[in-house]
Amino acid sequence: MRLTSPPKPRRFGQLQVAGEVSILELDAHAHPGLQKGSNGTQGNAEGGNFCVSSSSLDEILSEMVIVVPCKDEDLDVIRGVIAAIPHACLVILVSNCKRAEDDAYEQQVKMVHTFAGYGRQILVIHQKDSVAAAALQASRMSELLDPADGRIRNGKGEGMLLAIAIAEAFCPEKRYVGFVDADNFIPATVSEYCTAFAAGFAMSRSPEQEDTLVRLRWNSKPKIRNGKVEKVEQGRCSRIVNNWLNRLFASEAPGETLNPLITTANAGEHAMTMALAKKLRMAAGYAIEPFHFVDLLVRGRLEGNTSSSARDVEGSNRTETSTKPLDKPVTVRQIRTCSPHWHRESDDEHIRHMWAAGLGSIYHGLAPYRAKNGAIKQLCKDMHAYAVNNNGVEKTTGQLPCPRTYPALETMDITTFRRMLRRGMGKDSFHALGLDSSEED
Ligand code: GDD
Repeated sequence: MRLTSPPKPRRFGQLQVAGEVSILELDAHAHPGLQKGSNGTQGNAEGGNFCVSSSSLDEILSEMVIVVPCKDEDLDVIRGVIAAIPHACLVILVSNCKRAEDDAYEQQVKMVHTFAGYGRQILVIHQKDSVAAAALQASRMSELLDPADGRIRNGKGEGMLLAIAIAEAFCPEKRYVGFVDADNFIPATVSEYCTAFAAGFAMSRSPEQEDTLVRLRWNSKPKIRNGKVEKVEQGRCSRIVNNWLNRLFASEAPGETLNPLITTANAGEHAMTMALAKKLRMAAGYAIEPFHFVDLLVRGRLEGNTSSSARDVEGSNRTETSTKPLDKPVTVRQIRTCSPHWHRESDDEHIRHMWAAGLGSIYHGLAPYRAKNGAIKQLCKDMHAYAVNNNGVEKTTGQLPCPRTYPALETMDITTFRRMLRRGMGKDSFHALGLDSSEED
């Protein structure tokens, strides 16, 4: 793969954010004679470009888990997404489809079985799995459960967290975890996304030296208007959340020109080192992606500048684990894809819900820092005013929504979780295909 050269990342304490790079060629090879990259890869900056060889990409892909959160997409669409994930990646499909209706989940499981037997490793689970809920309860992750029914809460973020816990429990040797949405109508783009994740990791130092978060910006979102295809550069939600995150980062780098630094606030397609996935606090539902930036800035920069009283983050329900400063540098890499992204069209209400959740995660996540940091105080005030003017506040409180944030997964008892889930394999909804520890093949 050939990409534009990675710009020097901007530093915010332990957090480094690199500006966007673009994919120039999907299949390009590093030239012989170039120096080895610091990650033991052949990726090198040369003449303004960065090449990563197929063998380096393959090596990273073989250490990667790809999570597909799905709900009620057509079976064929989900099948296409799985079919396009590079074979070396282990796949986890987390479904939250309605279970009672026309056996949609049974159909999804059957579809997944069609990939088995060819050396493919796939795990599939329903978000409402009773064994998984009990296992989370027993392993100190009860925050993920809905007290009303004791099952895992609804939400994309919640499904992703369950998948990370499963990845850690069943494939601890994997070093990276990536996420791709299931509502993608062009399967081949999924292959590009996973390879782009690998290229992002190849640009960074090894996971032992630093953690990396790779976020993708779709080249465009095509829309059909008056019979013509129009390329929309930024989605309706991303446009808003990017803008506020850029204001936040600019306030932390006074006097510097950051050009819009953040272009991937709502990157549904993203990947990170497993170590980072265990360390990050994650937010509920669609707030999960914007909140990555908040947690990283808080723990990479703001926590070092504030008294420990700031550790009780509003909205967090396990304060002792909340804002431990990062123990290692984290680099955020943003990559613009070659392909446009074609997916299910969302209505205005869904988009409003997504940006309000994103802004709410920033607003409430920064609450402990408002008193001491004048720029953050002003930003939050302006953000609230924007939300009021654009119908983004809750009717009952007049405030931006406060998305739940979950404790980092590193605080859970993974041994208990693994033991209970393994014992329950095949009993409710959890199936593992192609793994050494599988009960099925
Ligand atoms: N397991 C699970 N559980 N999956 C879910 C849930 C849930 O409760 N809710 C949604 N998903 C899945 C959907 O089935 C889909 O595959 C994916 O998550 C994205 O959900 P959509 O509802 O289709 O989101 P979107 O397309 O409007 O937004 C996407 O892009 C945004 C950036 O433009 C999402 O990825 C957002 O998170 C992202 O910010």
